[in-house]
Amino acid sequence: MRLTKDDVERVDKEGLYRDYEAWPELAEQALKLKVDLKERKVYNIVYCGMGGSGCAGDIIQDLAFSKPNIPPIYVVKGYNLPTFADSSTLVLAVSYSGETEETLTAFKEALKLNCTTVGLSSGGRLEKICAEKNIPHVKLGKALTPRSALPYILYSSLNILNKIGYELVSQEELNGSIAVMQKVRKTTGISNDLETNEAKQIAEHLYNGYPIIYGAQHLKGVLIRFKNSLNENAKIHALVEVLPEACHNSIEAWHPSNLDLRALFVLGERRLKKRFDTLMELVERSGFKYRTVYTEETELFSSLMSILYLLEYATLYLAVLRGVPPAPTPNITLLKKRVEEN
Ligand code: F6R
Repeated sequence: MRLTKDDVERVDKEGLYRDYEAWPELAEQALKLKVDLKERKVYNIVYCGMGGSGCAGDIIQDLAFSKPNIPPIYVVKGYNLPTFADSSTLVLAVSYSGETEETLTAFKEALKLNCTTVGLSSGGRLEKICAEKNIPHVKLGKALTPRSALPYILYSSLNILNKIGYELVSQEELNGSIAVMQKVRKTTGISNDLETNEAKQIAEHLYNGYPIIYGAQHLKGVLIRFKNSLNENAKIHALVEVLPEACHNSIEAWHPSNLDLRALFVLGERRLKKRFDTLMELVERSGFKYRTVYTEETELFSSLMSILYLLEYATLYLAVLRGVPPAPTPNITLLKKRVEEN
């Protein structure tokens, strides 16, 4: 298949691709969303969210790792806040639908503990409770799915942190990253031919195999997000391995086998070059194919966004190659229904 615009439109009947094609504009809109917040000192930050709403928390944590004067950031993907949470904690409760049980439970706990709490959702119970209890709330814009609403979620969360006084990404860097996404879209968007479209080529590389994704520690959030979108858009399993840790365990698993493994190396840190080179050699020696991805962006947030956007497009194209509509997630829906019935 050539993965033409027609192919995408035929398989992606719901039009998830339209959200992806609009990511730079979604990010722009997110930076304009209003929230009534003042600077205040907190001792720790807890980001609560599941699935598509949770992955922005991982990326925020990666960004915070190398920033001075930022309180420790924890990501909760479950029901409970960590036991240290108290009135010196900032809690971001993020649920795109505003209806996710785990996030609502953690949010209510934050209110009980008197944490500084902000809700982010496109509506739902989260918005309602915020209005009733006068809790700051950011109303996220419209998108077909929580995962395709990522720019709303991520840029709004960063904006909130900036307003409270913890700048992880400056306004200039946020604007710069939007320009970078526009650049990525120019070459990887649905109208770009396979021959020059890296995202389509990545999809072809992964097609019919089991993806094993390697990348540096600071990309962990982006790689997990890629795995999640491979699961949800392309409906396949995938594995994420982070360097240098992977060179102390996962590296041993490279041997000839009957599995159809497809390695993808997201290159970055210079210090890791020997490790990447050795892994690639071992993948080849084991009889498997690999592909590399890297970004020319030097600024951290822009480089994360350029890789994230490129890989997200690849998950859309892989769904198309597989002939599976990327938007519906019937298994997640089934599970949520069962949980609600209890
Ligand atoms: C992503 C997706 C799920 C949801 C998750 C939580 O597109 O559909 O991963 O993000 O089930 O739901 P929300 O985001 O509404 O809290």
